[in-house]
Amino acid sequence: MIQSPDAASRSEEALALMERRRSVAAAGLIEPGPTPEEMDRLLAVAARVPDHAILTPWRFIVIADVARAELGALLAGAYRAGNPEMEPAKREKFAGIMSRLFPAPVAVVVVSRPNRETMIPPMEQELSAGAVCMNLLHGANTLGFHGIWVTGWAANNPEALRLLGLGEGERVAGIVHLGTAREVPPERPRPDLAALVTRWRAPERV
Ligand SMILES: Cc1cc2nc3c(=O)[nH]c(=O)nc-3n(C[C@H](O)[C@H](O)[C@H](O)COP(=O)(O)O)c2cc1C
Repeated sequence: MIQSPDAASRSEEALALMERRRSVAAAGLIEPGPTPEEMDRLLAVAARVPDHAILTPWRFIVIADVARAELGALLAGAYRAGNPEMEPAKREKFAGIMSRLFPAPVAVVVVSRPNRETMIPPMEQELSAGAVCMNLLHGANTLGFHGIWVTGWAANNPEALRLLGLGEGERVAGIVHLGTAREVPPERPRPDLAALVTRWRAPERV
């Protein structure tokens, strides 16, 4: 007899992990990070998202090991060059922040690249890229890691995007930092579902 839901594929453990998922700031993510083999699995999980018409409207840029500091140095230079009028001490302070934008063991830039030749609206394709970011976080959590999905200056500044390697028509859906949590922050207020959920009913006929 076919049972639904399939008891064999039910996982209270997986659901419990999702119920308590919490982001950890990139600066609080330390070694160990996912191994290259674990990253391969995580990226495969990340790519397993709903994708209307199978357009694969996203791609990944992985930033790990020495690439983090190398990219940081280039971003700091771009920040300095882009803000020549700024008061020097302030400019150096922010350039320093840009140089340390990748403190976690691994960061994955999820690049949204909607295909504009199709009937599928760009928004649907961008949502698919968002789902990629979320899958990465949940996948990393199931391996015992933590992470955070951010954007910020590097995800929006044209020169930073060029240094990251983005091309025409591409945007950053998210930069997902991954590693081991030095400390998991306390829970934050969560949405009041009672205020958000309605059950649709057919209008009463008079
Ligand atoms: C598209 C997107 C961009 C975000 N960018 C940032 C960011 O730049 N900096 C930041 O601190 N949080 C950012 N967040 C919020 C964090 O990912 C996270 O939701 C927040 O820290 C709350 O933690 P929680 O995931 O445990 O609820 C962003 C979230 C989304 C969906």
